[in-house]
Amino acid sequence: MPYSCTVGTCAECRVKLVRGDVDMAEPNCLTSEERAEGYVLACMSRPLSPTTVDIGVAASTGRPVTSSQRDACVNGG
Ligand code: FES
Repeated sequence: MPYSCTVGTCAECRVKLVRGDVDMAEPNCLTSEERAEGYVLACMSRPLSPTTVDIGVAASTGRPVTSSQRDACVNGG
């Protein structure tokens, strides 16, 4: 499973939550659209129940994180 920063700023570990619930630490780089589509960051999430994630979806929809998104994550904005 791809990952890089391990602190929620790169989105390399983005996966789609198929089943279950997670508690995802904030701030992080997910957009509101990604959240609405069910994506989570594996490095920032703790399962609250048995979960299933789709790793392939994340790999096939990879999007670059813009510098402003990264700055917002780092600065909490
Ligand atoms: S490894 Fe960078 S956001 Fe999870």
